[in-house]
Amino acid sequence: MKSAALLSAVLLATGAHALPSEQTISKRATCTSPVKLSGNPFSAHTLYANSHYGNYVTNATAAITDSALKAKAAKVASVGSFLWLDTISALSTLDAHLKAVPCNQVIGIVVYDLPGRDCAAKASNGELAVGQLSTYKASYIDALVKIIKANPNTGIVAIIEPDSLPNLVTNANLATCQASKSGYEDGVAYALKSLNLPNVVQYVDAGHGGWLGWNDNLAPGAAELAKVYKAAGSPANVRGFATNVAGWNAWSKNPGEFENAPDGQYNKAQDEKRYVALFSAALKTAGHPNFAIVDTGRNAVQGLRLEWGDWCNVNGAGFGVRPTSSTGDAQTDAFVWVKPGGESDGTSDTSATRYDSFCGKDDAYKPAPEAGTWNQVYFEMLLKNAVPSF
Ligand SMILES: *[C@@H]1O[C@H](CO)[C@@H](O)[C@H](O)[C@H]1NC(C)=O
Repeated sequence: MKSAALLSAVLLATGAHALPSEQTISKRATCTSPVKLSGNPFSAHTLYANSHYGNYVTNATAAITDSALKAKAAKVASVGSFLWLDTISALSTLDAHLKAVPCNQVIGIVVYDLPGRDCAAKASNGELAVGQLSTYKASYIDALVKIIKANPNTGIVAIIEPDSLPNLVTNANLATCQASKSGYEDGVAYALKSLNLPNVVQYVDAGHGGWLGWNDNLAPGAAELAKVYKAAGSPANVRGFATNVAGWNAWSKNPGEFENAPDGQYNKAQDEKRYVALFSAALKTAGHPNFAIVDTGRNAVQGLRLEWGDWCNVNGAGFGVRPTSSTGDAQTDAFVWVKPGGESDGTSDTSATRYDSFCGKDDAYKPAPEAGTWNQVYFEMLLKNAVPSF
């Protein structure tokens, strides 16, 4: 939370009128003094709608001919979502983004450039190879910290390295993940320690209920996160964990989508609400902060996946609940949009270097371009299937 003076200014600015128009929001002033966040960053701030995603959505809207769908598409541009800093060069645009964030909002960033990234799959392999840890530290994390320090008046929520620590817990049998292990642990610890800044709140990625939620994975998963957090010196601004990033799980569904599968008895985290409860308890035991944020960007429709682990461009998906701190769950700080809906999870071109067989499965939308590339048809599908609708 900001200082009392700033907070009351925000309350004055946001209080007692009807919902402001989008135009008013975009013109809202930036903070004029350093921001200090504590507690749930979403209790007094909404998630910033960055122009990176906004520009994609604006272009996508222009390409739609059906007037009713076009009007709905236009609304997506004002939904807050996270900005993925997935390469060193992506940092070049960050300063401008940080300077545009209104004082009653926080910008979400995804820190995502570890050496040997995506060790258990192929679609999101990154630019840094195993062993390039010093490049990660100096050219990526240090560069990121420098930009953030130059913008102390902007509130920032960071999700740290999706899939990395979860992969070390469950894919330790893969040679690629064995090779990545020390770099992931050292790299994440370095990120956590370096990003321990007053205007930043950090959430470490913890996969989802169908991953670390298995009975046998809960304690080892929490232990892995806690080990790295402690190696970082237990940074004060680590608030907890992020779940369902780029995922598809429902927040709350009874019975859960895979609850009645033959192995359902071995997993009590059958929706993200139950996963948050179980994993936050495990984190507490392990000595790691345990508040959660949950990606609801694409989880509107259930029953689409053949198997729980299917992660690539799930066909029939829809935009989920819009970012909000009204989660109804004391342990869950906010529902957020992390994965920018419309950007591909991976290519369906079987001849591509980064082709992953998950992107060719029967439940994956095809054709799909390379990870991170815009897929207009997929965007329109998410829009048509959105719950609540736009
Ligand atoms: C949007 O369209 C404009 C005009 O065609 C183009 O210059 C720009 O690169 C596009 N932006 C994105 C994010 O696709």
